Amino acid sequence: MATSERIRKCLFPAAGYGTRFLPATKAMPKEMLPIVNKPLIQYGVEEALEAGMTQIGFIVGRGKRAIADHFDNNYELEHQIAGTSKEKYLDDIRTVMDTCDFVFMRQREMLGLGHAILTGEPMIGSEPFAVVLADDLCAKPTDSNDLRALGQLAELYDRYQCSIIAIEEVPIEDTESYGVISGEEISPGIYQVSDMVEKPKPEDAPTNMAVIGRYILTPEIFEYLRNTPPGRNGEVQITDALRTLAQDRQVLAVKFKGERFDCGSVEGFVKATNYYFENEYSK
Ligand code: G1P
Repeated sequence: MATSERIRKCLFPAAGYGTRFLPATKAMPKEMLPIVNKPLIQYGVEEALEAGMTQIGFIVGRGKRAIADHFDNNYELEHQIAGTSKEKYLDDIRTVMDTCDFVFMRQREMLGLGHAILTGEPMIGSEPFAVVLADDLCAKPTDSNDLRALGQLAELYDRYQCSIIAIEEVPIEDTESYGVISGEEISPGIYQVSDMVEKPKPEDAPTNMAVIGRYILTPEIFEYLRNTPPGRNGEVQITDALRTLAQDRQVLAVKFKGERFDCGSVEGFVKATNYYFENEYSK
């Protein structure tokens, strides 16, 4: 399996309230909502691990301690089920815990995705890194041996050595839920980004190519984020920082292979649950 040698670190912004899932998210982080029997955030971390990334950074806010507990030992439980048939349910999380290191950083104020990423700068330093938005759940491609979306991006990074974002065509009426790009197709499914707009109305959208929550970013993005004024919703947007970076240097957008579920919406969450039940859990 080809994985990136160079990208070791992956950030998981996880400070949002998850208001669309209230009351479930009143006392529980939305990232811990399970798709079948596994929390959303664990799917994201497993995808990062598959892409060769073992330094995992969570950008959390208040009320998110369950995420830290999930990636830690639970001696009492482990003692209880040791040697029983139930122990196998811990196989995946044990693999993740044995292979990855976890860092938690607190975003004290919700000032946007760009600000959340900037909060991770002390952990990233000056190397390229990945960002995963766990709400977007990316399944393994079923018709090829490709890695999941982040692994596909990491492989392209090896070739192009620039910031790379995942995109997908969406119905034009949905552009207001996404960052939207335009650019020239330089190779099948790979676009050189010339413009990016955060959540445009359909009539203002340059295309229907939407940004999905998988990014490989080069470290100069931090300087761009520092110089990015608040944009859509009064928040610092990674989309705006990337637009400026694309004008100064190269940013690529890639149509990745494999199905993606918007688990930030109830409808996408239910679709993902059915998909994983049928394709992974029951097998
Ligand atoms: C964020 C980004 C947006 C991107 C989306 C993908 O928005 O700001 O550009 O298209 O993730 O899921 P959010 O869904 O967090 O509002």
